[in-house]
Amino acid sequence: MSRHILLIQGHPDSSELHLCHALAGSYVQGALEAGHEVRRCELADLDFPLLRSQKDFDNGVVPEQLQSVQSDILWCNHMVLFFPLWAGDMPALLKGMLEQVFRPAFTGTSRNPLATKPLSGRSARVVVTMGMPALVYRWYFRAHSVKALERNMLGMVGIGPVRETLIGLTGDLSASQAQDWLSILRKLGAQGA
Ligand SMILES: Cc1cc2nc3c(=O)[nH]c(=O)nc-3n(C[C@H](O)[C@H](O)[C@H](O)COP(=O)(O)O)c2cc1C
Repeated sequence: MSRHILLIQGHPDSSELHLCHALAGSYVQGALEAGHEVRRCELADLDFPLLRSQKDFDNGVVPEQLQSVQSDILWCNHMVLFFPLWAGDMPALLKGMLEQVFRPAFTGTSRNPLATKPLSGRSARVVVTMGMPALVYRWYFRAHSVKALERNMLGMVGIGPVRETLIGLTGDLSASQAQDWLSILRKLGAQGA
């Protein structure tokens, strides 16, 4: 079944081609070949302020460039986020964008954990690259920042299931290992997963 996929490229640097961009390119290629529709959000190209107060969070106007991200989230039934692990977490630019976008007026204000949320029915995948071995991040660090994103940000607004692809030792990837990852991402794109 054809899916509406929103790809959020969370790498803060678009001045050169990073692994995150190559992985996203393969994902899009697979998705388009399989007949899915894809919209892309290149975070590095957006200009928006950080959220600074509860008052703004509750009642402020969402920065103009992020209003179209909200429309794209409503349009999609699957989101895929790419980002490099920076200081043990997603880059601040991506966190800043999610804080701005997931306002109560957009995600629903019900405190009932069993209530259906406006964004329910959307699945997601988080693709994270990192310098350390992925196994160390997963088992020693318990993938804490990715789990926080999955449960506390995406899960809280009703997005799920959320799956993850963790790619470690990025500084030491051989050409064939990089190719293997590109193939994996292309297949995931084809599956709309
Ligand atoms: C500011 C900064 C902070 C980083 N912090 C971490 C970290 O905490 N853990 C880690 O494993 N790698 C860390 N790295 C390495 C990046 O995760 C790695 O270079 C990146 O995933 C490679 O993917 P890219 O080519 O798409 O940037 C950091 C890199 C930068 C630039």
